[in-house]
Amino acid sequence: MSIPFTPLVQALPASVPFTGPETLERRLGAPFRARLGANESAFGLSELAIQAMHDQIGISGCSWYGDPENHQLRSRLSRIHGIGMENICVDAGIDALLGLTVRMLIQPGDAVVTSLGAYPTFNYHVNGFGGQLHTVPYADHHEDPEALLESAARHKARLVYLSNPDNPMGTSLSADTVQSMIERLPAGCILLLDEAYAEFMTDQHPAPLNMDNPQVLRFRTFSKAYGMAGMRIGYVMGHVDVISGFNRIRNHFAVNRLAQIAADASLQDDEMLPRVSQLVSDGRQRIYDLAEKLQLPCLPSSTNFVAVDLGSAELANHLLQRLEQAGVFLRKPMVPPHDRFLRVGVGTSDEHDLFVREFQTGLEQSVR
Ligand SMILES: Cc1ncc(COP(=O)(O)O)c(C=O)c1O
Repeated sequence: MSIPFTPLVQALPASVPFTGPETLERRLGAPFRARLGANESAFGLSELAIQAMHDQIGISGCSWYGDPENHQLRSRLSRIHGIGMENICVDAGIDALLGLTVRMLIQPGDAVVTSLGAYPTFNYHVNGFGGQLHTVPYADHHEDPEALLESAARHKARLVYLSNPDNPMGTSLSADTVQSMIERLPAGCILLLDEAYAEFMTDQHPAPLNMDNPQVLRFRTFSKAYGMAGMRIGYVMGHVDVISGFNRIRNHFAVNRLAQIAADASLQDDEMLPRVSQLVSDGRQRIYDLAEKLQLPCLPSSTNFVAVDLGSAELANHLLQRLEQAGVFLRKPMVPPHDRFLRVGVGTSDEHDLFVREFQTGLEQSVR
């Protein structure tokens, strides 16, 4: 029988934006010994989160659905950010929220603008809902607000995506630059500001929140600094009228109960963010020092990874494969000119030491 897929689905390749490390491990036949490629946290959960989940399991096991309104978490987030609860929608991570956003705002053929080589999961959703993607190049190693604005105006785009800090380069734009972009958005165009790495910004800080502006959505996650990537929980902040749209289409029980409880407990842990930020800063410094020692340029990072320049895509690909064979999982930018970089995640000391050993050996053998 031919399956009655919609024409849109029929035209899509069966693909995922990223090959998961587990898939690679199955191919290799062994687990990775250093998992530095998915920008996950190497520094665990808040103790308060662990205790809260333990208590919850004692009460109900995992037999209860989560609160479909995410009330307690939204209430705490609203106090932390100084915005209304009605300005916040919680779902199963930024990835899920990006999918909902595209579903809510894009009809087949609508124009959407992003940067060439930027976060691919967003593109995956745009393709999945039939949007027309337009890409602009990075300027140096930054996403380029001027080019994004120009393209959005030219194509009458309904959405423009900017990740700040950026993945895969780790760079960030100043609050003033982002604010100036917000002020010049073309009418009818909404900026999706993906701030998955906001907690790691040191030199810069996020642009101020303004929930009166229906043209901006701000995406945050518990996957990175809070160490909860496997639990799938994140949130979006925006104007009440836009946020209310999410409530028309979201899966009300998508967020698991333990994730809700762990996220809420993590936000009460005053030690968590300073501790993890310091560990990430130290880890970035170790990668900067290594790059300097090996005379490889690298980019100052506002995230939990550092982009290291190998000078050629060929060498970067070769080292990536070699590291993988040696049990070190990394990823790299795929699109020129950034495909000559390796994206090195901040890991534990053991993971970092293993990476250093294998990377140095691989580099020496390659240039010999
Ligand atoms: C820019 C960016 N946005 C979103 C995500 C995914 O966030 P979440 O785990 O909340 O879906 C990532 C993860 O690597 C990311 O790099």
